[in-house]
Amino acid sequence: MYTETVRDYFLNPRNVGSLDHADGIGEVGNAKCGDVMKISIKVEDDRITDVRFETFGCAAAIASSSIATEMIKGKTLDEALQVTNRDVLDALGGLPAEKIHCSLLAEEGIRAAVEDYRSRMAESA
Ligand code: FES
Repeated sequence: MYTETVRDYFLNPRNVGSLDHADGIGEVGNAKCGDVMKISIKVEDDRITDVRFETFGCAAAIASSSIATEMIKGKTLDEALQVTNRDVLDALGGLPAEKIHCSLLAEEGIRAAVEDYRSRMAESA
């Protein structure tokens, strides 16, 4: 049912956890399945220098969030916002149709973390 890549990222998830003194935190959830994803980012000169995730959810959600953290690390904030769930799906080699919403959670988590960072910056300006 899952690709080798999905199994690998589920069984050996990269960038698990949270960051001390994160610059931005995005927490999103899916009301239907109840899965929750939290993405923490460190930002320097508009670039994501470090990222961690904590996902309480299914295998597809864990694999999606883990691979998404690798995809945005080192990117500028605008570049990270370009990452869509389609990119996450491609990187994972696809997901079963009923699991596509799990990859959407990763896209939303990235967006929420960047928005949180930007609103903190706007407040402190
Ligand atoms: Fe909902 Fe996977 S079943 S995020």
